[in-house]
Amino acid sequence: MPVTAVVGAQWGDEGKGKITDLLAQTADVVIRYQGGNNAGHTVVNQFGTFKLHLVPSGIFNPNALCIVGPGTVVDLQVLCEEIVSLEAAGISTANLRVSDRAHLLMPWHIALDRLDERERGRQKLGTTGRGVGPAYADKVGRHGIQIYEVRDEKAFRERVSHELATKNVLLTRFGDAPMDPVTVADGVLAAAAKLGDRITDTLTLVESALAKDAAILVEGQLGAMRDLDWGIYPYVTSSNPLAGAASVGAGIPPRAITRVIGVVKAYSTAVGEGPFPTELIGPQADSLREMANEYGATTGRPRRVGWFDAVAAHHAHRLNAFTEIAVTKLDILGAYAEIPFCTSYELDGATTTSMPPTRILERVKPRYETLRGWSRDLTGLADRAHLPVEARAYLKRIEETVGAPVGMVGIGPEREATLL
Ligand code: IMP
Repeated sequence: MPVTAVVGAQWGDEGKGKITDLLAQTADVVIRYQGGNNAGHTVVNQFGTFKLHLVPSGIFNPNALCIVGPGTVVDLQVLCEEIVSLEAAGISTANLRVSDRAHLLMPWHIALDRLDERERGRQKLGTTGRGVGPAYADKVGRHGIQIYEVRDEKAFRERVSHELATKNVLLTRFGDAPMDPVTVADGVLAAAAKLGDRITDTLTLVESALAKDAAILVEGQLGAMRDLDWGIYPYVTSSNPLAGAASVGAGIPPRAITRVIGVVKAYSTAVGEGPFPTELIGPQADSLREMANEYGATTGRPRRVGWFDAVAAHHAHRLNAFTEIAVTKLDILGAYAEIPFCTSYELDGATTTSMPPTRILERVKPRYETLRGWSRDLTGLADRAHLPVEARAYLKRIEETVGAPVGMVGIGPEREATLL
């Protein structure tokens, strides 16, 4: 079985949760490989509507092993709350495992995220405020605490005290109260105790799944435009949502990942700051946002909305080599008689289909083709062949400009509303 990666090909929020939930029905293992609880994966299925932040979207398949991989940063308390709310909705989380090598997202990371954004002022990044950037900064700076360290309580408490000695200097310098190492350590240890044996060496689990040729799904958070290396730096997240990072972040040899599904919305959205060439403003934006209910799953912030940007999605394809594309929310565009579709950018009088770095991207003008809309409700369609001819032409244009075939089309929030 190929290992399948499901990754975002735009600014995040493409609908990966829905696609992963669908594919997870037949998966044996589902792994989150980067990010933290900045993620907000919306899943709508027979159990209800869920916004998953850390738990992989495979949790609704009782037979799938769900792994929070070593490449993630984990707020154990948030994870425990998410488990409690899933269990309350009747979803078993017995098959959830958390890599003992993943890094802890500590309370001071959340405080530092907030202070950092405040100090940046007008240059702020628009982070989710969940502490993800500071947690990865500590990991790279070799101040991070890996989850397994909670197993030695004495040593863990010392680590917390040691780290807080410097973090408290920072916190108080910027006007926050210092944190008490005992209280902080107590909170993390209590959450770790609740997770118990779920905290484990996930490499062995993944290795044996690979040896059995099990169906493995790796789930990225966010999209290529927010990738630390290839996105709109510094308006990016602090990890790599690209499929290449799944190898390291999940603990899977790169040759094993042979199927890569790039998820795109039929239009574009973004939360947070940074360039977004096809962005709509004013009443046009408001009407698309309301119609499509584009509000951040983690923060509730209104999402910025715009037309489909083939330059951005093609950029993602160059980096991920999608074996197929999943297009979500095609139904939303049924409201338009004509649909602008960005195929290139104009930059200093020339045309480009290459993604320039951030400060140059801020200067581009999107070049649009106008595609015919279908002005029809797509609800209830069960076969791709039944899509209106204009909708099929729209999908074809995505295939041509991005460079990969469209394998799945979402026409509604529910799992079943996906045409294969
Ligand atoms: P951070 O990941 O919270 O540090 O935020 C960095 C950037 O990524 C900001 O622009 C956030 O709005 C954006 N971001 C983080 N997580 C998500 C997500 O799950 N969906 C969409 N945008 C996100």
